Amino acid sequence: MKEINLLPNRLLATPSVQLVQTWYIQSLMEILEFLDKNPEDQRVLETFVEVLETIRNRHNEVVPTMAQGIIEFKDAFGQQDPVTDHNIQYFLDRFYTSRISIRMVINQHSEFLILSILWSFKIDHAKLLCEQYYLGAPELELRQINANSAREPIQISYIPSHLYHMVFELFKNSMRATLENHEASSHLPPIKVMVALGGEDLSIKMSDRGGGVPFRKTERLFSYMYSTAPRPSYGEKHRAPLAGFGYGLPISRLYARYFQGDLQLYSMEGCGTDAIIHLKALSTDSVERLPVFNKTALRHYKLSLEADDWCTPSKEPLDMAVYRMAK
Ligand SMILES: Nc1ncnc2c1ncn2[C@@H]1O[C@H](COP(=O)(O)OP(=O)(O)OP(=O)(O)O)[C@@H](O)[C@H]1O
Ligand SMILES: [Mg+2]
Repeated sequence: MKEINLLPNRLLATPSVQLVQTWYIQSLMEILEFLDKNPEDQRVLETFVEVLETIRNRHNEVVPTMAQGIIEFKDAFGQQDPVTDHNIQYFLDRFYTSRISIRMVINQHSEFLILSILWSFKIDHAKLLCEQYYLGAPELELRQINANSAREPIQISYIPSHLYHMVFELFKNSMRATLENHEASSHLPPIKVMVALGGEDLSIKMSDRGGGVPFRKTERLFSYMYSTAPRPSYGEKHRAPLAGFGYGLPISRLYARYFQGDLQLYSMEGCGTDAIIHLKALSTDSVERLPVFNKTALRHYKLSLEADDWCTPSKEPLDMAVYRMAK
C-alpha cells in the first residue's frame, strides 16, 4: 500500500486504481480489528476466517481492474516515457507477487489446503476455448523424462492452481499462434510438451510452430502494456477467449518466480516458440520470493532517463533505454 503511492499521480488518479486502493484500505482495516482479540477464542477464529474469505473475494478482480487502470492512463495521456513504463512494470511485478502470496496464505488458513501431489495437464479447457474461437485446435504431444526413476511417472508437490495457471496460459498462447499461423492450411502442427524431472529442477517445455516472435520483441512480451490481441472490454463477463490484456506471460512468470523458479521464452521467428517453465523439484527449495519495501526499492522509482551510452542504429528505439540512478 505504501509502494503504490510511488506510482505517477495521473495513474493513481484513474477510477480503477482508486477502486483497487479502496479495497486494500478496507481489507487492512478489517484485519486490524483483530489485533486486540483473543486468538484462543473459537468464535474469534471463526469470524477471522469469514473476514479472510470476504477479503479474498473482494480482491478477486484486482488484476483486470489494475489492467483497466493502466489502459485508462494510456488512453488519457498516451505513450509513456521508458522510465514511467519501467516503474509501472517494476511496481506491478512486486504488487502481483505480493497478491499471489497473500492469497496463498489466506487459502491455506481458511481451507487448510494441503499442497497436493499433482501431475495432470489441464489442456482440455484451453482446447475447448480454442475450438470455440477458431473451430479447431492443435493436438498435444506429451513426453516425460524422469531422470530419478525412469519407470515412474513424474510427481512433485506444487500449488495446483499456480501450476494450472502457468500451463494454461502457455497453452492458450501456443494455440493462438498455431491457429493464426496456419489459417490457410488443413494441417495444424501439434504442440509438443516435454516434462523433465532432475535432481533439482522440474522443467516443462512447450514448443509450438506458431511462427514465433522477432528476437527484438521477446523482452516486451513480458510487459504489462503489451499484447497483439484485440483489447478486451472491461466488465465483459466473457473475455476474449484466447488472449486479452497481455498479462498471460508476465503473471505466469511471477508464479514461477514466486517459488524460486522462472519462465523463459525462446522464439525463432518464422518457425515457432519454445516456452520453458523451470520449477524447483524439491519442496524444501520452493521458498517464497517476496518484495521488500526498503530504500533499494525506493531508489528504483527515482531512476531518470539519460542519454544512451551505446549508439543504437535501430529505427525503433529499444524498450529499455539506459537508466542511471538519479543523483
Ligand atoms: N507461443 C507464442 N507464439 C507467438 N507469439 C506469442 C506466443 N506467446 C506469446 N506471444 C505473443 O506475446 C504476446 C503477449 O502474450 P501474453 O500471454 O502475455 O498476452 P496475450 O496472450 O496477448 O493476452 P492474455 O492476457 O489473454 O494472455 C501475445 O499477444 C503474442 O503476440
Ligand atoms: Mg496469453
